[in-house]
Amino acid sequence: MALERTFSIIKPDAVRRNLIGKIVTKFEEAGLTVIALKKIQMTRAQAEGFYAVHKERPFFGELVEQMIASPVVLQVLEGEGAILKNREVMGATNPANAVEGTIRKEFALSIGENSVHGSDAPETAAEEIKYFFSDDELVG
Ligand code: CMP
Repeated sequence: MALERTFSIIKPDAVRRNLIGKIVTKFEEAGLTVIALKKIQMTRAQAEGFYAVHKERPFFGELVEQMIASPVVLQVLEGEGAILKNREVMGATNPANAVEGTIRKEFALSIGENSVHGSDAPETAAEEIKYFFSDDELVG
């Protein structure tokens, strides 16, 4: 398996409930290393651009509102097979389908307020990392 980097967002619903530490611990216990981390208030333009692929979906407006409602924590995670590993640790998008022990099973409130986002493929991981981090912020 290759050493990979992937992008993660701890969403407003989880940050508001003081779950940053518990969620980062899940990633670390799975063997992922945090090589960049920052807390930001996402702007509407940033959220709309980040989720542009979902622009035509019925949930787009609500998704943007939820992402800008309060601060998020952005991370770059590194490890062997990091992209898939991150997705395994997160669990299914809809918490109703998430496996026991996953972040979304334990913490998500709904499909919209599902506590975390993670890149789904190498191309999106690279794009999403670049969207929020400059190269000199990545400290591997
Ligand atoms: P995320 O991994 O951040 O990618 C897009 C987000 O849209 C997703 O997690 C959910 O929080 C949100 N969303 C809301 N409704 C849906 C839906 N019906 N299907 C997929 N994603 C949804």
